[in-house]
Amino acid sequence: KMEIVTDPQEFQKRAFADRAAGLKTALVPTMGFLHEGHKSLMEYARQNADRVYASVFVNPTQFGPTEDLEDYPRDLEHDAQLAESAGVDILFVPEARKIYAANHAAWVEVPQLAEHLCGQSRPIHFRGVATVVSILLHLAMPSIAIFGEKDWQQQAILRRMVRDLWIPTEIVARPIVREADGLAKSSRNLYLTESERKQAPGLHAGLLHLAKKAKNGERDVAELRKELEKYFAEHVPAGKIDYIEFVNPEEIQPVTRLEGPTLVAIAVALGKARLIDNQLLLGE
Ligand code: PAJ
Repeated sequence: KMEIVTDPQEFQKRAFADRAAGLKTALVPTMGFLHEGHKSLMEYARQNADRVYASVFVNPTQFGPTEDLEDYPRDLEHDAQLAESAGVDILFVPEARKIYAANHAAWVEVPQLAEHLCGQSRPIHFRGVATVVSILLHLAMPSIAIFGEKDWQQQAILRRMVRDLWIPTEIVARPIVREADGLAKSSRNLYLTESERKQAPGLHAGLLHLAKKAKNGERDVAELRKELEKYFAEHVPAGKIDYIEFVNPEEIQPVTRLEGPTLVAIAVALGKARLIDNQLLLGE
């Protein structure tokens, strides 16, 4: 039976006891409104650890002043059901004022990896993510922590954070879970209207189209970008491109030619939703 713990100190006590008992522990951090993507991370954790913790915390410090913190969807009852069915042992659901003291003053930053992609359009976002994940890792001290490749830049930043700060947790990244038509599952997909939802699969389809171009020999990033813009204009006409970027998958720095595995990452505003997706070009 899954337990819900709200007190950070209680959570830390429980997790440290598991660790001291020699158990392999896993943590899956989330902001709730859980779907199959989150569930796949929890199931991976269940299969690869003795004790599984998941957190549901809509972290205020990673939202900009004009973003959807207030509107972010919440459904704790459904989340608890999904987490329990995925085999989670402890669901940690703290209140923001318990995580952040009123005079909270310490931050974790990995600025070099946050210069591009979402870091550019969301300047304080990754500082908030790195700080809250650092807090969660210090509470749970898990053997492994599981993240999704949907937020590729996020897992790259967190991987660098634990390496550079010698946090004794292994960061594991898992593949993107998609709807049958290719749209990456996201808690924010519910913002889409019916007509926007019909165009949304075009994001993934465009990225696959590009992967094929790359495989067939196109190496010039300017050409690939033009090709993707053309594809989106045709298939996702309501979409406003926030960015299309081609970067080195570990350093998250732009490249102008494909000279090995390269990540193409996109963010597109479709009505009220800002959708992100990515695809490795010339990978495996
Ligand atoms: P959230 O958006 O709730 O996502 C929690 C985890 O689920 C992240 O690692 C994310 O990459 C993963 N995920 C989301 N959609 C997915 C999909 N379709 N397929 C596979 N994995 C998916 O990301 C966050 O929360 C926050 O930034 C957090 C790390 C919890 C820090 O607050």
